[in-house]
Amino acid sequence: MDHFLINQPLHQPSFIRSFVRREGRFTKAQRSALIDYWPYYGVDTHQQSLNLDELFIKKQPIVIDIGFGNGESLLYLAKQHANLNFLGVEVYRPGIGNLLRNIYLEKIENIRVVNKDVVELLQNNISTNSISSALIWFPDPWPKKRHHKRRLIQVHFLELLATKIVTEGELSIATDWKPYAEHIQETVQQCRLFKKCQASKFIKHRPQTKFERRGKKLGHEVFAQTYIKK
Ligand SMILES: C[S@@+](CC[C@H](N)C(=O)[O-])C[C@H]1O[C@@H](n2cnc3c(N)ncnc32)[C@H](O)[C@@H]1O
Repeated sequence: MDHFLINQPLHQPSFIRSFVRREGRFTKAQRSALIDYWPYYGVDTHQQSLNLDELFIKKQPIVIDIGFGNGESLLYLAKQHANLNFLGVEVYRPGIGNLLRNIYLEKIENIRVVNKDVVELLQNNISTNSISSALIWFPDPWPKKRHHKRRLIQVHFLELLATKIVTEGELSIATDWKPYAEHIQETVQQCRLFKKCQASKFIKHRPQTKFERRGKKLGHEVFAQTYIKK
């Protein structure tokens, strides 16, 4: 179960992490859901390369939701799109517990969950050309200049992600932080592997996420864009 129930320190990676390890506060239900439902919906990543199709009941296009938070929007998407398989990736364990509980309660079959830094997951466990669509909705904006190096969206990250996305597959990014939106646009342009598109062929309607609601309450505008891998 990876570094899951035991609170082990993460080893020092060769890159700057886009998050700071925070255990957060678990509710009793979230903690028990982690223990009870991880064996059913959780994905252990000891194996070098995961066969994504084998994780799911039906073989269908795979959408990776990077940093799903409490999983509210991921759950909604999975219910709306029974024709897609969703691989949720998150490092925040109370959020994972919350999602596992809801997957169980709502008997959702097309979500599997990984508890790992997405950079390491992509580097070590995901095969090339295996993902149809990647969602990065409201990644941590790291507003202070000295923290910009922690932002997930960087050229080298997009290059890595692009190798895993099929040709004509998609990347969807949303943020409520204008300077990050500008950084994202510049970075996507710089990496030259994606082009803008009008609408996603996979996700009909982007649901409002928890962080989006929070941003809107603060009066923030939302910037969302779907790209196609060239
Ligand atoms: C601002 S929250 C957004 C959550 C959700 N997408 C939403 O819109 O409500 C960003 C999430 O990304 C997760 N995260 C940040 N860096 C990550 C990484 N390298 N791998 C996996 N998850 C990451 C954080 O733990 C956090 O839950």
